[in-house]
Order: sequence, then C-alpha cells, then structure tokens
Amino acid sequence: MPGKRTLAIIKPDAFGNGKAGKIVALLETNGFKIKAARVVRLAQPQAGAFYEVHKERPFFAPLTAFMMSGACMPLVLEKENAVLALRDAIGATDPEEARDGTVRKLYAESKERNAIHASDSDENAEREIRFFFSDADLLAAG
Ligand code: CMP
Repeated sequence: MPGKRTLAIIKPDAFGNGKAGKIVALLETNGFKIKAARVVRLAQPQAGAFYEVHKERPFFAPLTAFMMSGACMPLVLEKENAVLALRDAIGATDPEEARDGTVRKLYAESKERNAIHASDSDENAEREIRFFFSDADLLAAG
C-alpha cells in the first residue's frame, strides 16, 4: 500500500528568492498537509550523505555545492499516495519539460537550480524524513 507521507525540500534558489511561501501555498492547494518543517543550511557531510545515491554522477559536486549555497526548507508532507502525488505536483526535473502549474514550471530556473526536491519512493521518503526530523518533530502536528 502506498505511503501517506513524503519529503520535499524547497531548495536554496527558491528559498533565497522569497518563493518558499508561494510554494508551500501551492502544495497546500494541491491537497498536502504540512506535518513538519525546518529551515536549515546544509554542510558538506550532510549534503553528501543526502545525495549519496548520486555520488558517482557527474552532477554530484555541483548539486551538493548548490544545496550548501544557502538555506533550504525540508518539509514533511501528508496526502494519500504521497510520493507519486508530490512528484506529479512538482513536475519534471527540467522545468522546460514540466507541466503547466507545477512547482518547477512556475519557480525553477534550470535542471540544476530546480526549486524543489521530492522523495522518489516510499522507502526513500522514510529515510529522507528521518534525515531531517526526529520523532518529536513528527508528533507535533499529530
Ligand atoms: P532532485 O530531485 O533534488 O534529485 C537529484 C538532483 O540532481 C535533481 O533534483 C537535480 O536538481 C540535480 N541534477 C543536476 N543535473 C542533473 C541531471 N543531469 N540529471 C538529473 N538530475 C540532475
């Protein structure tokens, strides 16, 4: 059965450009409930660990440098079939390919500076949620 929660990160491009509020509003309009949120600035060990799955890819170094370049905003989001629903709401990795009305179509600058991250499976969602949030954080919103 698909899980009910997933992780989004409003990335440093969108957070730094004052788009966090608009993105959260769009996610809520898409039916997601905010279950936890933080503002964090990643350092190398965290950025490297978070994107470890991509460590052999040519874009790993620029991706981690970008994710450390400013504050970002991890969010735990709840909805039925959360992982697929969020990926649908944010659109394709490359904003030029993203559907109209999606977060990336509206707010991403490029494939590299693409405004938002979303977990790609239920298993990764749980791992990524635990990366940023404790049990106490997750209990707060019920
Ligand atoms: P994200 O959903 O955070 O997961 C991996 C990220 O790598 C992706 O979003 C992009 O921002 C970034 N990235 C940079 N270059 C590429 C690329 N060529 N293909 C896929 N992802 C890329």
